[in-house]
Amino acid sequence: MSMQIITQASGLHAFIAELRRSGRRIGFVPTMGNLHAGHHSLVALAREHADVVVASVFVNPTQFGPNEDFARYPRTPDADAAGLAAQGCDALFLPAVEDLYPYGAERTVRVSVPELPDVLKGALRPGHFDGVATVVAKLFNLVQPDIAVFGQKDYQQLLVIRRMARDLGYPIEIVGAPIVREANGLAMSSRNQYLGAEQRERAGVIHATLQWMRTRIVEPGQGVATIEAQARERLAQAGLVADYAAIRRADDLGELTVTRRDGLIALIAARLGPTQLIDNMLFDV
Ligand code: PAJ
Repeated sequence: MSMQIITQASGLHAFIAELRRSGRRIGFVPTMGNLHAGHHSLVALAREHADVVVASVFVNPTQFGPNEDFARYPRTPDADAAGLAAQGCDALFLPAVEDLYPYGAERTVRVSVPELPDVLKGALRPGHFDGVATVVAKLFNLVQPDIAVFGQKDYQQLLVIRRMARDLGYPIEIVGAPIVREANGLAMSSRNQYLGAEQRERAGVIHATLQWMRTRIVEPGQGVATIEAQARERLAQAGLVADYAAIRRADDLGELTVTRRDGLIALIAARLGPTQLIDNMLFDV
């Protein structure tokens, strides 16, 4: 079937009700649009787990801080729809702000996930993960998926959504998808288009630094704090300002204890000019 484009919650409701009546398994891929190969890989993964794949494109106001890029976030709905249709996506939900926030974004009921948002990216962007949890909860209620796919690129977001889904009792399987990268290792991101060609090339240092952190942690006697400081230094040498370069426990992003060296993740957030880039790498040692 050709891809349906649904712009109103009422239209989505009818579409989903029909799918559920016919017992189809629904896979869901929420996005903010300006789609690239990373997003497309999520659609392909959802297809492996479901009969019908629904994607959403919605630039969610409640997850942007007052001085962030909500207004200038790239909006490319026509290209997004064409790309999703080519991926074999069955439906695209393109809601308006009023559909998801009938009382206005300022006055919404909020979903707040404790603890996890207070570290790393959450500490840099207060309220960001509450905005994410809030909009994803609303989308889950509207789409009623059986499975939903989130990229490991936004690792902290993936953990926040897993925790929200479990704690609120959503009967939805949360599937994590591998990070899709450019040839130089730079993780694909809608924000990469804020970068010039030379900056994009330079930003490959983020992935290289994650790999370097992995080689260092297995060397005996390497303190985590030293590796983190040296990682920040490597980023600085390439002209990037590191907000963090951290090695944490993968399950809850907690700091490491001396005895524990398995189930680790390295995470970097670094700025190139005004553009913040994030990436991470899971590793076991
Ligand atoms: P957005 O940044 O558009 O990302 C949508 C999904 O694509 C997220 O699950 C993200 O982790 C995934 N993704 C982005 N770049 C990727 C890459 N290079 N490889 C693999 N997956 C990638 O994340 C959001 O939107 C929003 O916070 C959202 C969950 C939609 C809530 O508004």
